[in-house]
Amino acid sequence: MLPEAERIDWALSKAGPGTEVLGSLAGALILDLGSGTGRQAAHLARDHGAIVDAVDNSPAQHQRALNTYGHLPRLRFHLADALDYLASADAYDVIYSVNSLPYLPPRETLAAVVDALAPGGRFVFSVLHTTTDLRPPSTSVVARPEILRLRGGEDLTVHMHVLTTQLWADLAYEAGLQVDRTITIESPDDSNPVSYRLFLTHRA
Ligand SMILES: C[S@@+](CC[C@H](N)C(=O)[O-])C[C@H]1O[C@@H](n2cnc3c(N)ncnc32)[C@H](O)[C@@H]1O
Repeated sequence: MLPEAERIDWALSKAGPGTEVLGSLAGALILDLGSGTGRQAAHLARDHGAIVDAVDNSPAQHQRALNTYGHLPRLRFHLADALDYLASADAYDVIYSVNSLPYLPPRETLAAVVDALAPGGRFVFSVLHTTTDLRPPSTSVVARPEILRLRGGEDLTVHMHVLTTQLWADLAYEAGLQVDRTITIESPDDSNPVSYRLFLTHRA
């Protein structure tokens, strides 16, 4: 069991800004894209009075989220592909995604996010930027293999979009988002070169 989230960790535990970058949340309609265990979505519904939809396409994660947080008011879990869900989504005040965007097709997803936002709605997302092997991010929109070290110790190869900050910003702009701020999140451990980027944007 993971501990309850007391803030949103956008990248690494207790590194970088937290929930406050989402702005005022009480009564806001929010979507968590690629919600995984549902910890962050539960935090926003429970601790900030938000109305939260959380979507993930993993049946195991979905069931786990339902088992743990299915009883919470103002929180709904959806087992669906992100793009399918966005195509029929409501007008959200805030959409956010913690490290899930790299698994999705960037152009299609960003365009679908814009369509699912209310006018002026915010989209906040974090992405992997540099891995421990120090391979630089890509300057073209291609997914590449990355090795994830799982909690059990085994390695898992996944395909992710690890793109430069400028490329993510350009893709967001092309989709109709204004990028308000880009934040670098580094590991507090100096010997760990892993680095993430957090983008604060809103529907232009
Ligand atoms: C790195 S995990 C992040 C999970 C969660 N946001 C967190 O921070 O703990 C990426 C998540 O994206 C989900 N995912 C990947 N592709 C997806 C898709 N096409 N549609 C919906 N969810 C997807 C995975 O099942 C996984 O739960």
